[in-house]
Amino acid sequence: MDLSKFVRPHLDALHPYVPGKPIREERNILKLASNENLLGPPASVVEALRKAAERVHYYPDDGSALLRQRLADKFSLEPDMLLPVAGCAEGIYYISQTFVDDGDEVVVSHPGFSIFNIAGAIQNAKVVRVPVKDDFTPDTAGLAEAVTENTKIVWLDNPNNPCSTIVRRPEVEELISKIGGRALFVHDEAYVDFVTDPGYVSGLEYLQEHENVIILRTFSKIYALAGLRIGVIIARPEVIAALHKVRMPFNVNALAQAALLAALEDEEYHRQSVAMAIEMREQMGKLLGEYGFRYVPSHTNFLLFDARVDSVELAREMNEQGVFVRPMKGAGLATWVRASVPSNIVDCHRFADTLVECQRRLLERQGGESAQ
Ligand SMILES: Cc1ncc(COP(=O)(O)O)c(C=O)c1O
Repeated sequence: MDLSKFVRPHLDALHPYVPGKPIREERNILKLASNENLLGPPASVVEALRKAAERVHYYPDDGSALLRQRLADKFSLEPDMLLPVAGCAEGIYYISQTFVDDGDEVVVSHPGFSIFNIAGAIQNAKVVRVPVKDDFTPDTAGLAEAVTENTKIVWLDNPNNPCSTIVRRPEVEELISKIGGRALFVHDEAYVDFVTDPGYVSGLEYLQEHENVIILRTFSKIYALAGLRIGVIIARPEVIAALHKVRMPFNVNALAQAALLAALEDEEYHRQSVAMAIEMREQMGKLLGEYGFRYVPSHTNFLLFDARVDSVELAREMNEQGVFVRPMKGAGLATWVRASVPSNIVDCHRFADTLVECQRRLLERQGGESAQ
C-alpha cells in the first residue's frame, strides 16, 4: 500500500518533536537534557499516587472538577477560566486545533519552544519566526510587526526556552497593546516559579482587560511531575469553552489529578524546589564562567551556554560519559548547549568536569584533523 496517498500532504515537511534521551540504562546517568526537576517528586505526591493507584480501574474525573476548583482558588479565578491538560504540550495542541486553520499564520519567537511550531505545522499554518535579539531576549517589537491579517496566534514563552531569558512588563504590555484584537496572545509561563526579577509580569494580570490573552502553566517543572503530564490553560470562559470542543475525553489521568492536588498543598516542597533551582543555576553559572564559557543569565531551571565546539558532537561525547545535555544546533545555535540544573553541587561539578573534558577532546580531535 502506498501510504503517502493517505497522509495529509503538508505533514511531509513536518519534523516530529525531538525529546531528550530517555534513561534506559543502569549506568549512573545525570540527565540534564529536558529541563526536568531533579529534586524528584514531593513525598506527599508519592503517597497520594500510591492511594490513587488502587483506584485506577475507574475512569478519571473527566472535567478534573476537584482539581479545577483547587486551581481556581490558587489563582483567585472562576473554575470556568481553567482547563487542566495533560501537560502544556497538550494545551498547545488544543489551542492550535481550536483556532488555527489551513493557511493561517502563527508568530513565534525563535529559538523558542518547538511545540508551538509543530502544533502550527500540523494545522498547515505558516509559522513566522521572529529571531531573538542579540542578548537572547525575545524581540517583542518584531513579534508585533509580524502580525498580519492572517495571524491567529502570537506565542511567547516567557521565560523563553531554550534561552532562559525573560521579557519584562513594559515590553509585554506594548506587545499586547500592539496585537490588540487582531490575534490571540499565548503567554507560556512554564518556568514562572523560578523567576525572581521584579520586572517580570504574569499574563494573569491581563485576563480581565484582554479577552485574547491565554496563559499556560505546567506543573512538570516546579513540582517535578513531568512524567505524569499535568498543566493548565487559563483564559476567559469563552476561550475555555471553545477549547473544550477539541479536548480529549478524560485528558488528564487520575494519577496526575491526584498528584497535583497533593503537590499544591506542599508549600515546603515548593519553597525547596525554587531555592534549589536558584542556587544551582548560580553555581552552574559560576562554574561555566570559571571555565571560560559564555552563558546567558538564567531566569529558569536551565542554562544556555556556548561550548565553542559543535554542540551535537559535544552532546554525543557527554552522553557517553553519562551526562545528557541538549545541543542547540537544530535551533540554529551551532555551538550552544542547554543544560538543566542538577539537584546538588556534586552533580554541578560532574557536569562541568565532563563538559571541560569532552570539549578538550573535541578540540584536540579538530586540531588533529585540521593539521592533517
Ligand atoms: C516553554 C515551555 N512550555 C511548555 C513546556 C512543556 O510543559 P509540559 O511538560 O507541561 O508539557 C516546556 C517544557 O520543557 C517548556 O519549556
